Amino acid sequence: MYDVLIRQIPDYDSEKVRIKGWVAHHRSSGKLIFFELRDGTGNIQCVVYKGDVEKDIFENSKKLTLETSLIVEGAVRRDERSKMGYEIAVFKLHIIQKPEEDYPISIKEHGVAFLLEHRHLWLRSPRQVAILRVRSTVVKAIREFLDNEGFILFDTPIFTSSVCEGTTTLFETDYFDDKAYLTQSGQLYCEAGAMAFGKVYSFGPTFRAEKSKTRRHLTEFWMVEPEAAFFNLNMNMIVAENFVSFIVAEVIDKNRDDLELLKRNISNLEKVTVPFPRITYDDAIDILNGKNITISWGEDFGGEEETVISNYFEKPVLIHRYPASCKAFYMKNDPERPEVSLNCDMLAPEGYGEIIGGGQREDDYETLREKIKAHKLDEKSFKWYLDLRRFGSVPHAGFGLGIERTVAWICGLKHIRETIPFPRLMDRIMP
Ligand code: 4AD
Ligand code: MG
Repeated sequence: MYDVLIRQIPDYDSEKVRIKGWVAHHRSSGKLIFFELRDGTGNIQCVVYKGDVEKDIFENSKKLTLETSLIVEGAVRRDERSKMGYEIAVFKLHIIQKPEEDYPISIKEHGVAFLLEHRHLWLRSPRQVAILRVRSTVVKAIREFLDNEGFILFDTPIFTSSVCEGTTTLFETDYFDDKAYLTQSGQLYCEAGAMAFGKVYSFGPTFRAEKSKTRRHLTEFWMVEPEAAFFNLNMNMIVAENFVSFIVAEVIDKNRDDLELLKRNISNLEKVTVPFPRITYDDAIDILNGKNITISWGEDFGGEEETVISNYFEKPVLIHRYPASCKAFYMKNDPERPEVSLNCDMLAPEGYGEIIGGGQREDDYETLREKIKAHKLDEKSFKWYLDLRRFGSVPHAGFGLGIERTVAWICGLKHIRETIPFPRLMDRIMP
């Protein structure tokens, strides 16, 4: 008898195995009972034949209900009809816990509000498992890529004293006799790290008090933020495109079954190879005008504009040199054209919109002070940040990739809420 995971079953043809899991489907017909067992690594059909088992085992099997937890002992045998090519002929069955009432999530359609309320159970559904397995691969690929490129993991604080991405989306919290903000981005701290290590990245939860309910916004999301000393905008864009194409290739390689279950068009993902198209903000305006969207120079792109641009290209597109007026205080302006900043965003294709924001940072002390003032930010809380420009300042750049938007795009989801185990939305923090 071998203790096995469902995904290992093909290696145990004709052997006796013991599997632990939950009932995902159940039906009986006369002398035969069929149930599907899932254990998080896969699903397998189990068959109980009246003539093969003791009477009480057969009676217990008959009464199984959805999500009953149990241990099954049986023989692995070939079954051409099943996806895995095998099924389990059960000879023993030990119920661990049988739900006393019907499992709330059935095969029938449920509304989104109901599902979100039952997120702790919804997570068990095949589609949700597939999405979160892709997320796990994305996270692993992120670390693998950056570690191989010589970036050092550099954890930045969640309680912060300074604003990073504008005052309108700050979560403020009591901090003893003072107040603190939940971090919007680890970037400013990563800049300190880059001056110590050369190349660093932070990877953790970030918070935005987004007062909009859109398919692209969470209030708590995960961001990975590489930052490198002696980097300019161009070097930044090269890392960003290699990074994203690596992540996508890893998911195609490791999660093909999950992508198929999600009915993702994998050939679209296979197009995500370097180099990515690169356009300026001005070029993007031309594209928008060509699609009858009027936008005046100086305005940032909103959801609608992003969707149009990102449908225009088959690969992710890098857009650089936005008007300085619509970007954050820390961006360096282009010395050849001071009205634009040396920033770059990456928009995912198929209408998914921005997945990366980043650029080259202002490295001159006086200029940065003026920018802090112009953005009406409190200079005192940036004293430490300004110090980085007083002690060996160098050109440097970095970017932030949003994990959930990346997963939503790679999985081809309509809404970002399914890409994180427990989504935090403007109107939801339960469960
Ligand atoms: O463009 P953003 O605001 O850039 C920064 O925070 C920079 N400080 C990053 C850096 O240069 N180190 O955010 C970066 C990415 C976005 O492109 C998007 O993918 C994601 O973070 N993001 C969100 N994802 C989900 N919900 C939200 N409310 C998000 N806001 C940003
Ligand atoms: Mg942005």
